[in-house]
Amino acid sequence: MMCLPASPPALASRLGLGLFVLLCLGIGQALENKAVRSRVGEKVGLPCCYEIPSSESLHRYRVYWQKNVTEVVLAYSDGKVISKHERYRSRTEMDPWNLTLWLSPVGLLDNGSYQCIVQRNSIVVCSQPVVLFVAADFSKPNITAEVSAESCESTEMVITCSSHGGFPKPRISGTINNMSVEWDASWVSESSFSPYNVTGKLVLNVTKDVNITCSVEHSGFSKSSSLLIEKTNDCIVPPVPPPYNVIIASIIIVITFILAITLAARFLPRHVCSHCCKHQDSVEEGVKGCTKRSMSSKLTAETSSV
Ligand SMILES: *[C@@H]1O[C@H](CO)[C@@H](O)[C@H](O)[C@H]1NC(C)=O
Ligand SMILES: *[C@@H]1O[C@H](CO)[C@@H](O)[C@H](O)[C@H]1NC(C)=O
Ligand SMILES: *[C@@H]1O[C@H](CO)[C@@H](O)[C@H](O)[C@H]1NC(C)=O
Ligand SMILES: *[C@@H]1O[C@H](CO)[C@@H](O)[C@H](O)[C@H]1NC(C)=O
Ligand SMILES: *[C@@H]1O[C@H](CO)[C@@H](O)[C@H](O)[C@H]1NC(C)=O
Ligand SMILES: *[C@@H]1O[C@H](CO)[C@@H](O)[C@H](O)[C@H]1NC(C)=O
Ligand SMILES: *[C@@H]1O[C@H](CO)[C@@H](O)[C@H](O)[C@H]1NC(C)=O
Ligand SMILES: *[C@@H]1O[C@H](CO)[C@@H](O)[C@H](O)[C@H]1NC(C)=O
Repeated sequence: MMCLPASPPALASRLGLGLFVLLCLGIGQALENKAVRSRVGEKVGLPCCYEIPSSESLHRYRVYWQKNVTEVVLAYSDGKVISKHERYRSRTEMDPWNLTLWLSPVGLLDNGSYQCIVQRNSIVVCSQPVVLFVAADFSKPNITAEVSAESCESTEMVITCSSHGGFPKPRISGTINNMSVEWDASWVSESSFSPYNVTGKLVLNVTKDVNITCSVEHSGFSKSSSLLIEKTNDCIVPPVPPPYNVIIASIIIVITFILAITLAARFLPRHVCSHCCKHQDSVEEGVKGCTKRSMSSKLTAETSSV
């Protein structure tokens, strides 16, 4: 490990303190990158690489906490703060023994790589990078369903799942009755370090009850919701399907037929009779029962022959 003092002109002239940002070049790069995860609004501690022995004190050290190599977050010399970045003012503290840098409250812009450098008598004792990953929770997904087309067999619905205010950019996934489904996702964010709003859409033909879930996830964090859509099969005014027509038509035909037969059964004998009666009517008198009439006609025939 080798550290070279670098002096960004603006910073050096502003401070006029001979304060340097140290560029440390890992020789052999054996440093394992430490990572710290945090959420917006929390208090987070970034560990340093050195603990001051109880026999000594911070007075004998220079400590630099810098971000992304170019920005001094907090620097101590002779036990006093010699530099504090504007953006971190009143949000930072350093533990005077183990040199942990405390940040509170953490903001999205604090995401990035940090480095702690400890010098004693102008000799670098140690330096260590720490990566801070800042995340923000997404709201519980809100699933809504809107009918876009309806028929008796199916209902076409537009399902929307939305969640907001999280960071970083999430993935959106889901299931329909336990089968995974792809949401057509879109994200909005004001800048690369602003919270994201995410919206997933899908068009679905609902033919039976469905249970839809939507999950919004990023780096080990996940929030999900589910929505149960019940297929309401209420075809109040159905566009009469052919089978109905056929059934109704056949019922009408059958009824008509039965009616016709019944009527025929009642009137056919009289018809036949009145036919034969009419013949004799001209000969004999009018209003009589048919059977009687045929008998009487027989009688008259007999009398006439006599
Ligand atoms: C440093 O000390 C603080 C207490 O002052 C403790 O909470 C923290 O865990 C310590 N950090 C390390 C890396 O030892
Ligand atoms: C340091 O910050 C600059 C812009 O501020 C960015 O372009 C660069 O990628 C950062 N480097 C690291 C190592 O994070
Ligand atoms: C946060 O910072 C780390 C380290 O620089 C970087 O790898 C990561 O991409 C950053 N996260 C986002 C969301 O930019
Ligand atoms: C879900 O979204 C709908 C439509 O955008 C909105 O009316 C409703 O208030 C939202 N519900 C919640 C709990 O945010
Ligand atoms: C869905 O899957 C889970 C496990 O993957 C199972 O326990 C559950 O019974 C399933 N539900 C249905 C309705 O298939
Ligand atoms: C994200 O959603 C929130 C709440 O619905 C809204 O106030 C905000 O303006 C949205 N942000 C963007 C970038 O659209
Ligand atoms: C849903 O079904 C209707 C007709 O049954 C069809 O026109 C439409 O394309 C289907 N939509 C989807 C998303 O499958
Ligand atoms: C829908 O499915 C989810 C997970 O698969 C389950 O937690 C939830 O209870 C189900 N809802 C209903 C109403 O069945």
